[in-house]
Amino acid sequence: MAQCSRRKTPRHVAIIMDGNGRWAQMRGHRRLVGHHAGAKRVKEILRTCPNLGIDYLTIFAFSTENWKRTQVEVAGLMTLFKRYIRYETQSLHDEGVRVRFIGDRVRLEPALVDLMDNLELLTAGNSGTYLTIALDYGGRDEVARAARRLAQDVARGQLDPRVVSDETLPKYLDTYFLPDPDLVIRTSGEARISNFLLWQSAYAEYEFIDTLWPDFTPAEFATVLNRFDNRKRRFGAVPV
Ligand code: FPP
Repeated sequence: MAQCSRRKTPRHVAIIMDGNGRWAQMRGHRRLVGHHAGAKRVKEILRTCPNLGIDYLTIFAFSTENWKRTQVEVAGLMTLFKRYIRYETQSLHDEGVRVRFIGDRVRLEPALVDLMDNLELLTAGNSGTYLTIALDYGGRDEVARAARRLAQDVARGQLDPRVVSDETLPKYLDTYFLPDPDLVIRTSGEARISNFLLWQSAYAEYEFIDTLWPDFTPAEFATVLNRFDNRKRRFGAVPV
């Protein structure tokens, strides 16, 4: 029996929020102004998820490669993340959002990690939209860290290597608690995936949108989802 998706609305949408820097530069501002404008969009898009039938929203906030940006931009982004979490924690909780972070936390400053831990803990029992924020995240890094943990379990005798399959590794990924994304959206006209959810997106649909992230409105989000309705997902099988 071919596995065709019967549910039209994507249950899990992942977004590469690209174009903040260009948005700011086009207006004669510093790049950080674009990141601040982008942060405002996050909440607007998140708020539309329940009405659109989206249960899981995953956003790419900072990649393992983003450390290569100027010290000013990296420091500005870290300050933005701290402020954002501090400012939004209570309202995210009040709105029933459940927040998780994926990525490697070792390079992040302890004050930021504390805020992330607190937000995760506070919202852990909520049943609204599952918001996952990728911060110091890279798909290859995630798979390498998963492989390391898996190898440790084998070395300790807790895992038999003969039973390792493509169903084993996902349990070691940062996203072990998430279903695979149905739809990955990238704004700003770039058509690449930039190390985002490499394993998880094997059968995701992709939408590359020209709009820069700070201009991406809930209305355009709804339009993109309508296009998704017209796609036929076959997961490698033949339709019957
Ligand atoms: C890519 O645009 C965007 C980022 C590296 C940062 C994303 C961060 C935000 C949207 C803001 C905050 C998010 C949260 C969760 C608070 P770019 O800088 O690469 O843009 P460009 O391609 O035009 O240079």
